Amino acid sequence: MDSIAIQGGARLNGTIPVSGAKNSALKLMAASILTDQPLRLTNMPRLADTKFLGRLLRELGVEVTENGHAGVGGEEQETLFHAAAIRSTFAPYDLVRQMRASFNVLGPLLARTGEAKVSLPGGCTIGARPVDLHLQALTAMGVEIELDEGYVIARAPKGLKGAEIEFPFVSVGATEHALLAAVLADGVTVLKKAAREPEIGDLARCLVAMGAKVEGIDTDELVITGVTSLGGTEWPVIADRIEMGSYAVAAAMAGGEVRLTRARPELMQALTDKMVEAGVEVTPTADGVIVRRDPALRLKAVNVATEVYPGFATDLQAQFMALMTTAEGDSVIHENIFENRFMHAPELARLGADISVHAGEAVVRGVEALHGAQVMATDLRASVSLVIAGLVAEGETTVGRVYHLDRGFERLEEKLGACGAQIRRIKGEDHEH
Ligand code: EPZ
Repeated sequence: MDSIAIQGGARLNGTIPVSGAKNSALKLMAASILTDQPLRLTNMPRLADTKFLGRLLRELGVEVTENGHAGVGGEEQETLFHAAAIRSTFAPYDLVRQMRASFNVLGPLLARTGEAKVSLPGGCTIGARPVDLHLQALTAMGVEIELDEGYVIARAPKGLKGAEIEFPFVSVGATEHALLAAVLADGVTVLKKAAREPEIGDLARCLVAMGAKVEGIDTDELVITGVTSLGGTEWPVIADRIEMGSYAVAAAMAGGEVRLTRARPELMQALTDKMVEAGVEVTPTADGVIVRRDPALRLKAVNVATEVYPGFATDLQAQFMALMTTAEGDSVIHENIFENRFMHAPELARLGADISVHAGEAVVRGVEALHGAQVMATDLRASVSLVIAGLVAEGETTVGRVYHLDRGFERLEEKLGACGAQIRRIKGEDHEH
């Protein structure tokens, strides 16, 4: 397993281009199952997770062709997905277990072929993360579901039927899953209390470009009128607001001035508001944002609570906690989306942070300085929070299990290194992944 070593203390100055969003790309890829025409996704991030889903799609019969070269920027990177015929409707445990988003092939397979057998994703380190809402939505659309030895065996012999579905609470995955199934259903589907994360808007707009009828995009009520078939299209993956937010926090932590390009700062407004409150300068530009912090000034502690979009993203909570470790005063951080998403706290403590966690609340007491150490993270966003902390920790910080980072950050060490971070990858033996 690779690790990343960071020598703390360097300021960040330079430009970082933001990649296409992992959490949009994965759902757009699943949409390719819905049509026998090619779906060309541009601004495609090259990540472990997108590769992984590509493998599953190939198993199902989708031709996956990567074009373009991997330069920082990503605009040349595109992938063509062509599901001319579905060869298999079986998504095995090994291919779903490692990445929960794989489960979202179930709806499109059902919509396209009327049947599917897909492994349940299982638990993960940030909480139980069940899929009951996904299954309830599909059942409402007339799908017969049986659970057998960890598999969902689903049939829609008469096709999917439009339905009115009110989610009991907001779920990104369930909203996307229901949307992916409803576009080819017979009749109208109404999704109430739908999630409105920007990646859902991106998926919905791509589906419309493929010929789907979706109203209420970006609101909490989606109205989908089923069509009999969809065509192909070319679609640019939306900018990754979590990657953008992570580098914004990195710049704020290290001090200096970083220009984020190909970015959509309005998609991270909740983060920006908190950063400004803490003392960071954030200036929008024509294609992104400039984040500036005078290294001589100590940031002020501010409180945050994670919420569904447009609230403060749970996927930015770990990074913000890292930022608060050296701020002046106490910061109270509430995690409202996942029940176990503070695993980075004890690792940050290894670097000298003072954090106490009680259930869904963490109290961070700002310290004067962090000190380099060996640390390890158990999920993607937690890993990047350790890299961020490492940027200011005195001496060297080594972050283990980098495969978590590779799931969702494209060429992280290259992007940070280009701004002056003293960061390098240490190649290790590949096992455990
Ligand atoms: C998506 O996960 C993202 N993943 C997550 O990003 C993100 O943290 C999350 O949305 C919230 O924004 C992808 O898009 C691939 P949810 P998802 O369904 O869809 C509970 C990252 O690091 N729930 O909105 O799984 C669930 O347990 C990842 O990129 C049910 O109880 O999130 C959680 O507590 C991590 N039953 C809450 O809802 C269900 O059927 C919100 O989950 C579904 C969800």
